[in-house]
Amino acid sequence: MDAPLLEMRGIAKRFNGVPALRGVDLRVARGEIHALVGENGAGKSTLMKVLCGVYPHPSYEGEIRVEGRACRFAGIADSERLGIVIIHQELALVPTLSITENLFLGHEPARHGWVDTVAAHARARALLARVGLDADPDTQVGRLGVGQQQLVEIAKALGKQVRLLVLDEPTASLNERDSQALLALLLQLQTEGVASILISHKLGEVRRVAQRMTVLRDGASVAGFETLPDEDAIIQAMVGRPLDGRYPQRRTMPGDPLFELRDWCVEHPQRRGHLAIRQASLTVRRGEIVGLAGLMGAGRTELAMSVFGRSWGRWRGGQALVGGQPADLSSVPRAIAAGIAYVTEDRKGLGLVLGDSVARSTSLAHLRGVARRGLVDEPREHAVAQDFRRRLAIRCRDLAQPVGQLSGGNQQKVVLAKWLFTGPRLLILDEPTRGIDVGAKQEIYALIASLAEQGCGVLLISSEMPELLGLCERLYVMNEGAIVAEMPAAQASQEAILRAIVGAPLH
Ligand SMILES: Nc1ncnc2c1ncn2[C@@H]1O[C@H](COP(=O)(O)OP(=O)(O)OP(=O)(O)O)[C@@H](O)[C@H]1O
Ligand SMILES: [Mg+2]
Repeated sequence: MDAPLLEMRGIAKRFNGVPALRGVDLRVARGEIHALVGENGAGKSTLMKVLCGVYPHPSYEGEIRVEGRACRFAGIADSERLGIVIIHQELALVPTLSITENLFLGHEPARHGWVDTVAAHARARALLARVGLDADPDTQVGRLGVGQQQLVEIAKALGKQVRLLVLDEPTASLNERDSQALLALLLQLQTEGVASILISHKLGEVRRVAQRMTVLRDGASVAGFETLPDEDAIIQAMVGRPLDGRYPQRRTMPGDPLFELRDWCVEHPQRRGHLAIRQASLTVRRGEIVGLAGLMGAGRTELAMSVFGRSWGRWRGGQALVGGQPADLSSVPRAIAAGIAYVTEDRKGLGLVLGDSVARSTSLAHLRGVARRGLVDEPREHAVAQDFRRRLAIRCRDLAQPVGQLSGGNQQKVVLAKWLFTGPRLLILDEPTRGIDVGAKQEIYALIASLAEQGCGVLLISSEMPELLGLCERLYVMNEGAIVAEMPAAQASQEAILRAIVGAPLH
């Protein structure tokens, strides 16, 4: 009984000859919460896919032992049989099916060969109660918020008698409250004997719940911590050097109004007559970084998308001015022509064509910028992409690699490069650093600041308060589709923002 729950030794994995893991060791004790951290592309997700049999034996080298027994998984089913369940970075539920159907997909409780719906319901209720999700098991999963879907995934894992739960950035797209609830659930499961491996770029939350930690850098384990050190020491191990001053020092001298919205109204695409954006007015000046704060569901993304080529809802009135002149933003190409760029929060859905090369993904929104006589000039496209690769420290094998093969954080950097290349006057950033490691975040902040210094206006949507306070000059607070407050960042705080939300008039 002395053997650890899990021991991975000397794990090496290559993709087309290029090493992603070079001899990684990982030990997880029974019932512990073990943090796995490292920069984007360090190999965290790959290591966990090896563990769970997504990359089966012998597509990797090294040894996996569970309670001392050597294991060679041929697929996910094998690792699940031993109680190892992974919840991937991108959730894997079927949105059109109900919670119950998702929970038992593939192994429905059956009696005499028929699916026993009564039993399935009862079990679904019991599992939902364990994860604290108060929802009808008949609800379609697509109607749940991300946080609730996450809980369904965990309930599903519990239904499989999980002993080791692997969570790959589970809180990346959750708001503060849902994140707290999820972390509390991990601690609760721990008291029931379930161990977890937690991958996260949010070092604060990692330090709150984990007992031990492994740090990966460039596909190798560079540090193991028996007790958790402070954030600076973790960052030092991840990046290989200390980081100072997370946010850039800026000389701010905002100029003329660059972008103005006046009484902007947008009807909900499905609910006729319901104004989802109500008389929103805001201004972004040249060289200014303006934040848009609010709780999840406040309408920030919807507002941004309705401005960017009316990509969301039906426009129902109001004016948009660029450089003091009414602007035609009625389609995405027109919005781009007017000098607006929008970096989406949902990189898989809207930002990238996963089969495209890194080079093409970079120039895609502005092909004219790399064209000669109507054709794409490939050396030019290459040079542009190479420049962004260097400036944003994008990690890829080469510029021909399909973006779908890059790590999550590096895909996000490519999305950013793509919109920067359009040379926007107004850059709308929607959760630009979600899933991005601390070092790369700092690079992105510096880049945003330098764009502003060159006269670009930036509208930043973020659920990370420190990010809004650290980067912006001014904040607008949104609630239920309306802008309810405006404040200089210097006077803003989490509390001030919440107060503005609570004090908002109800309709
Ligand atoms: N299917 C694939 N084909 C080719 N290369 C891949 C593939 N999957 C991952 N890689 C490469 O392996 C390396 C490790 O990627 P991985 O996704 O494990 O990183 P990560 O630590 O999870 O990063 P992030 O924090 O950004 O999620 C990266 O350089 C990535 O480009
Ligand atoms: Mg990953």
